[in-house]
Amino acid sequence: MSASSTSPLIRNAWYAAATSAEVGRTLLGRHLLGTPVVLYRTEAGEPVALLDACAHRQFPLSRSALVGDDIRCGYHGFTFASSGECVHIPSSPRIPRDARVRRFPLVERHDMLWLWPGDPALADPSRIPDCPWLDGSAKVSYYAHLRAHYQLLIENLLDFSHVPYVHHDQQGHPELARVIPRAREHGDTVVSTRVMRESSTPPLWSDVMGLPLGASMDHDQRFEFRAPSAVCIRQAVWASQDPGQRYPFSTTHFMTPDGCGATHYWSWVSLEWEGVDPATLERMDRGAREVADQDVVALEAQQALHDRLRDGAVAHGVVSVPFDAGSLLTRQVLVRMAKRERETAPEPRSAAS
Ligand code: FES
Ligand SMILES: [Fe+2]
Repeated sequence: MSASSTSPLIRNAWYAAATSAEVGRTLLGRHLLGTPVVLYRTEAGEPVALLDACAHRQFPLSRSALVGDDIRCGYHGFTFASSGECVHIPSSPRIPRDARVRRFPLVERHDMLWLWPGDPALADPSRIPDCPWLDGSAKVSYYAHLRAHYQLLIENLLDFSHVPYVHHDQQGHPELARVIPRAREHGDTVVSTRVMRESSTPPLWSDVMGLPLGASMDHDQRFEFRAPSAVCIRQAVWASQDPGQRYPFSTTHFMTPDGCGATHYWSWVSLEWEGVDPATLERMDRGAREVADQDVVALEAQQALHDRLRDGAVAHGVVSVPFDAGSLLTRQVLVRMAKRERETAPEPRSAAS
């Protein structure tokens, strides 16, 4: 069995649940960490996340009606306030004390809604991955419901030696697979950095930064895995002959397991130099989509093979090389976080209590 597809799910963490723009006055149902969640906004614009299962007979609230700030279940009409409390039962004047659905901590930041699926008492908003560059306007976004385990996506993003092969027509330049990043841990964060000198400018960066195709280019990268749900890659490229004119940009990736083997994957590319025009942003958007689609195809193929090999029909194993140091650290961090969560979880109550 592949170690990379068996990393545990961690519940006491913030996860991207949706973009801000996705959630409005229409009920949105989404599976997050194995939990059905319904998202919407109140009339005042406050985002709300409730368990997407009516407290009566578990009809999906996302297939119900939004009435003011309340959800009226589409099956027998029980009505739930945005707090999750049941406020009306058409067939009963008395509302049972347990008639409520769980409300999840939800915070809006950087054009995303962040949900805490674990113990609400531990939901500290200061632990949401801080990405201030996402507040800039020169950015493009991407979403896929990726049929692969989130650990595979994290490892893909920490190991850019795949870029000259998976994205050879877009961003691939030879130094990406040659210069080994320096990886280290800081608590629950893995940081990996490198500078690549005198590589050749690939097509996408030539179009977006205006550097001549194939001209000598330097490229600086800093990867940060902020466990368990974000990978931020701060980068800059510049013509080797002109280090004063840098083109800084960031690719920011959020991964949220759906709990059924797939991953909600959002990515943003932010262009951080002055004067990015609409045509450049449009080219970036097209390129970013093609690149992300290439990763999705590769990761889904990898996951499908892992699933088949899991049957044990073929003897198999994996090897790692020094380039994999960052990826291996991400596995360790996830395993450690899951262990910590297990050890601090409250004891299940006995039947007699
Ligand atoms: S299942 Fe929702 S009111 Fe009956
Ligand atoms: Fe990629």
